Parts: sequence; C-alpha cells; structure tokens
Amino acid sequence: MSIQTSEKSSNRGQTFMRTLRQDHAGLSRIMREIDTQAHRLAEDSEGARAILVDAFRYLLRYHHAFHHPREDRLFARIRARDEALDQTLQQLSHEHETGEQETRRLAEDLARASNKELVGECGAELVDRINDYLRHTRTHMRHEETVFYSRAEQVLSDEDWLDIIADDGPDDPITDIRTMRASYPALARSLDEPTSHLGLHRPEHSSSHELRLQMLALTDLYGGLMHEAIDLTRTHFQRLKSVRDPVSLMRTAGTIYADNLRFAGQCVTRPSRWAINTGAGLIVGWLKPYMKQ
Ligand SMILES: [Fe+2]
Ligand SMILES: [Fe+2]
Repeated sequence: MSIQTSEKSSNRGQTFMRTLRQDHAGLSRIMREIDTQAHRLAEDSEGARAILVDAFRYLLRYHHAFHHPREDRLFARIRARDEALDQTLQQLSHEHETGEQETRRLAEDLARASNKELVGECGAELVDRINDYLRHTRTHMRHEETVFYSRAEQVLSDEDWLDIIADDGPDDPITDIRTMRASYPALARSLDEPTSHLGLHRPEHSSSHELRLQMLALTDLYGGLMHEAIDLTRTHFQRLKSVRDPVSLMRTAGTIYADNLRFAGQCVTRPSRWAINTGAGLIVGWLKPYMKQ
C-alpha cells in the first residue's frame, strides 16, 4: 500500500472515531429527552408517549441500525489484534443485541398501551423499565468511551480500516432538524424547544428532577468539549508530522494557533450559555414559591 493510501486510510480512521463520538453526543441528548418524557408519562400520557415512541423509533433506525454495527465492526477488528480487550468488547457487542431487543419492546409496549393504562400501574412499570434502560445505556456508553480514550483503535492496520469503513451508512439525522421534523415530528418539536430559559423552566418538573437533567446536560457539554480537545490534539499532531521545512512550520503554527483560539472561545461560550439559560432558569424556578408569599 502506498504512503498516500495509508495516510488516507488513517484519516478515515480518525473521521470514523469522530463519528462514533458525535453519535454518543446525539445519543446522550436523546436519553435526556427520554428521561424527561418518562417523568411526564403519568401527567400527560398522550404527549409524552408520542415523544417517547418517536425517540425509541429513532434509536432503532439510527443507533441500532448504523451506530452499533459500526462499533461491532470496529470491536471485532480490535479483538482480533488485541486479546486483552477481547472480553470487554465481546460484552459490549452482546449489549448491542440485548439493548436493541429492549428498545423494540419498549417502543411496542408504549404504542400499544391505552392512555388509562399509561397513567396507572402499567405506566409506572414502563417508567421503571425505561429508567433501567437509560441506566444500562449510559453505563454501556461510558465503557465504550473508555475503549475510545485508550486509543485501542491504534492497533488496527490500513486494511482493517478499509473493511470497517466500507458501507458506513448515513450520518446521524439528529444533526438535521428538517429530517427529524419529517421522520420524528413529536420528538423534533420537543428537541426544538429551549429546555429552559429565564423564568420559564418547565413548571411540571420538580426542581430536583430539573437539576438532575441539567447536570446531565452539563456533563454532556464538558464531555463534548473533551472529545473535541482530543480530536484537535490529534489533528495538530498529524499537521506537525507533515512539516518539512521552516516555511511550512510557520504556516502550521499559525493554523494551530487559530484553531486553539477558536476552541478556547468555545470552552468559554458553551458553559456560559448553559449557565445563563439553565442556571438562571433553575434559580428563578427555586425562588418562585418564595416570591409569591
Ligand atoms: Fe455501543
Ligand atoms: Fe456507542
């Protein structure tokens, strides 16, 4: 294989790993939405059910149909090259199968239940199952990210990458609101709503539940920034590796400086936006009962 083909293949590998991490960011967002709607199921069974059914359908059509097969192909190749990770990766692939079965069952049971059933014992059981599902999925993702951070994929050869990337499937539709509106209207409407903004934190949620959700959002936000920092460092490293003379070194240093500056800006603006939109909303929500007295 030529050097050029080899570089192309390693770039594809980086793009592939970035896609997996972006998928996880999208999945975290959907899980927060599922968490929110599960808590509303007894109060607004019709509305919450529509969003939950859309969310589980989205998971089946994208995460189970494309994200997990991508990971399974990656894990199978890593297992063949690094026996130390064999059991962990086999377990993760097994969880893809059990996770898909439970997603399908939840989508069907939610769609089938009457509104009366959803507000009663049957609804409470479904909420327990959804909570279990969320707990398992979050643990599954954390384990996978440990594998991603360990850069286990570095044991792979160019041929491995070409096989893994072949027939890779579409991008996550969550990045395209028009597709989401067309395919998952109830979910898209809910994702479109600002989660909370000054003085308008959703009155139907208790403050402790709202706080938990917003803490999850903040964890995702920092997780996302960390992923981007790792990607940026890898890109810088690749750029520096290709420097051949003082002129290209100067040019590369300028590009690295500009990218770092842009990233530093994101590190300041994204958490600040969260603090303004969410933190202030929570404080107003907490103070409201006292302000009425
Ligand atoms: Fe997975
Ligand atoms: Fe995953």
